[in-house]
Amino acid sequence: MSNNSIKKTLLVSLLLCLVCSIMVSISVVVLGEKQAENKALDVRRNLLMATGLIDVSATKDDVVEAYKKIEMKMVDLETGEFTEVIDPYKYDLKKSRKDPKENMLIEPSDDIANIKFRSKYSSVYFVKDNGFTTQVVLPVYGKGLWSTMFGFLSLAPDLKTVKGFQFFEHGETPGLGGEVDNPDWKKIWPGKHVYDDQFNTKIDVVKGKVTENPHKDFQVDGLSGATLTSNGVENLLHYWLGQHGYLKFLKNIKTRGYLK
Ligand SMILES: Cc1cc2nc3c(=O)[nH]c(=O)nc-3n(C[C@H](O)[C@H](O)[C@H](O)COP(=O)(O)O)c2cc1C
Repeated sequence: MSNNSIKKTLLVSLLLCLVCSIMVSISVVVLGEKQAENKALDVRRNLLMATGLIDVSATKDDVVEAYKKIEMKMVDLETGEFTEVIDPYKYDLKKSRKDPKENMLIEPSDDIANIKFRSKYSSVYFVKDNGFTTQVVLPVYGKGLWSTMFGFLSLAPDLKTVKGFQFFEHGETPGLGGEVDNPDWKKIWPGKHVYDDQFNTKIDVVKGKVTENPHKDFQVDGLSGATLTSNGVENLLHYWLGQHGYLKFLKNIKTRGYLK
C-alpha cells in the first residue's frame, strides 16, 4: 500500500482515533474515581469551614482529622424524624433531588428558594465534643441570580444562633454575587440569629449595611451590586429553615432534649 493511498490515510486515521478513544476511556475510569474523591473531600472541607473547625489553610490531613468530630445522620424532612431508609454514606444530595423515587415537587407557592424539587430526605451533621453536640450543620441550597447555590449553615445548640455559613458550589459572578465566598462577608454571619424564640424564621439579608436597630441580630449586610444574589441567600435560608425544610426536625431535636 503506497503512503499516499486513500486506503492507508483512512486506516491510519482510524487507528489514531481508536488509540485516542482508548486513552480517553482509560483516563475517565482512572481519574473519575480520584475526581469523585476530591469532590467529596471538598464538600467536607466546606462543611468543616462552616463550623469553624478548620480554615482555608487546612490540609487534606486536617480535614480528615477534623471530620472525626462530625456525626452524620439522615432525616425524613416530612416527619422531621431520623431515618434509616437511606444510607447517609451513599446519599448524594444532588442525585437524590433528581431521583423520582426519592424526590418531591415543591408547590410553586412554597418554592421561595426557587429549586422546583427536593429530596424527601436530607443529611444533617452534628459536631461532637466529648459526647456533647456543639453545632448542628444543615445543607441548604437555592437559586441566586445565575445558579443554584449549595452551602452549609451551622447552628449553635440553641438552634437559632449561627456558628457559620459557607457555600460549596455556586455560579454567581466573581466580584458581584460571587462575593458570597468573600471571607469578610462570611465573618458577619456567626452570632446572627435565624429564628426568634418561637422558631419564626427572621433572618434578613438587607440592602446595604445593617444599621443600629432593635432587629440587627437578625440582619446581615447585603452584597454590594448583587442584590439579586443576596435575595437568593435570604430566600434559600427561609425555605430551608421553614416548615418545608428543617423546622420539624429542629423542633423535634429541641423538644426531645437531643442536644443536651
Ligand atoms: C455581567 C453581569 C453580571 C452580574 N452578576 C450578578 C450576580 O452574580 N449577582 C447579582 O445579584 N447581580 C449581578 N449583576 C447585577 C444585577 O443585574 C443587578 O443589577 C444587581 O443585582 C442589583 O444589585 P444592587 O441593587 O445592589 O446594585 C450582574 C450584572 C451584570 C451586567
